[in-house]
Amino acid sequence: MSVFKPVKLTEHVYWVGAIDWTIRDFHGYTTKRGSTYNAYLILADKITLVDTVKAPFREELLARVSELVDPKRIDYIVSNHSEMDHSGCLREVIEEVRPEKVFASVMGCKALKEHFRIDRELIPVKDGDEISLGNLTLAFTETRMLHWPDSMFSYLKEEKLLFSQDAFGMHLATSERFIDEIDQSVVDYEAATYYANILLPYSQLIIGLLDKVEKAGIPIEIIAPDHGPVWRRDLGRILSLYRKWAEQKPTNKAVVLYQTMWHSTELMAQAIQEGLREGGTNVKMMTIGPFHRSDVAYEILDAGALVAGSSTLNNNMLPAMADVLTYLKGLKPKNLIGAAFGSYGWSGESAGQVQEHLSAMKVDLASEPVKAKYVPDDEVLKACYELGRAISARLGAMV
Ligand code: FEO
Repeated sequence: MSVFKPVKLTEHVYWVGAIDWTIRDFHGYTTKRGSTYNAYLILADKITLVDTVKAPFREELLARVSELVDPKRIDYIVSNHSEMDHSGCLREVIEEVRPEKVFASVMGCKALKEHFRIDRELIPVKDGDEISLGNLTLAFTETRMLHWPDSMFSYLKEEKLLFSQDAFGMHLATSERFIDEIDQSVVDYEAATYYANILLPYSQLIIGLLDKVEKAGIPIEIIAPDHGPVWRRDLGRILSLYRKWAEQKPTNKAVVLYQTMWHSTELMAQAIQEGLREGGTNVKMMTIGPFHRSDVAYEILDAGALVAGSSTLNNNMLPAMADVLTYLKGLKPKNLIGAAFGSYGWSGESAGQVQEHLSAMKVDLASEPVKAKYVPDDEVLKACYELGRAISARLGAMV
């Protein structure tokens, strides 16, 4: 008996993906609850596999397919996204299944050839193209840079089902295959964490895509992403959350992010926190270590301010702070105000370096860096407190 069963989503579509219960690091993003690599089988006249799975999970995929049909009966394969977690076993699956046709976007065909040296024709599809599966129709929408140049959505018209590749996904390994079977707070946390760590840099494109779907009036009843459970109820909620996260409107919340050697930078962070709090701002204090870079990304998603500080070590900020700031810079958060701070012994470069990272993130700086030599005295702590009050006042005026 196979332990790998498919799950029916609609009359013709089955989930046939794989569950990765143990993965905890997804290219730098900590995946505390594991993940899934979703693939879908459409039992149409032309049997179609949408996406594959990460290479080590190929047998799990084929075992689930085999519960429904002999994999050799698959006529078409559609690759919505060429990143390895969805295409890592594509070449082997093509060799085993020998499908009549393999479809991908124009950039997808190129990327798949470059990744896997696939020695057969791949058929490019463009934005708005449709293919007939006999009794059903699959339509394609290019979603370039959401989040790779090759990315596209596939839409099964007759069942109003959107295969959304990475979008609307989450890293969550569960026995349940539908969102509405899972605790809402877990869904909200994991969906937001995924957005913050994967999709945040592409927020402007997401707003454009949401507008396009809305304007076209495309009816969607199910969203089947490439990670995590499937959305089949109250789709308006996740669509409006995506719009909110993409817009990143200012909020009255500040993240105070710091790393400290001998508690001097920490004392400064505490004084800033007091200023923010007494000004009426919600504050999330985050010291690196207890908090991972992907936790910080999650908190930044709905923050209006980022105040960051580090002690100086060997003429530099502390290495873990550089790690987190480099990561955040790549995520390109918007609409933040903030400032840098930090303690030092004799050279004192760290606060300026932190400020450079904030500037590169286009954080609207509320002041020059606040520094403390060795241990902050009352004057420095007052300056930190006043910095917190000033940022709080500015946030209060914006929201
Ligand atoms: Fe889940 Fe961009 O791959």
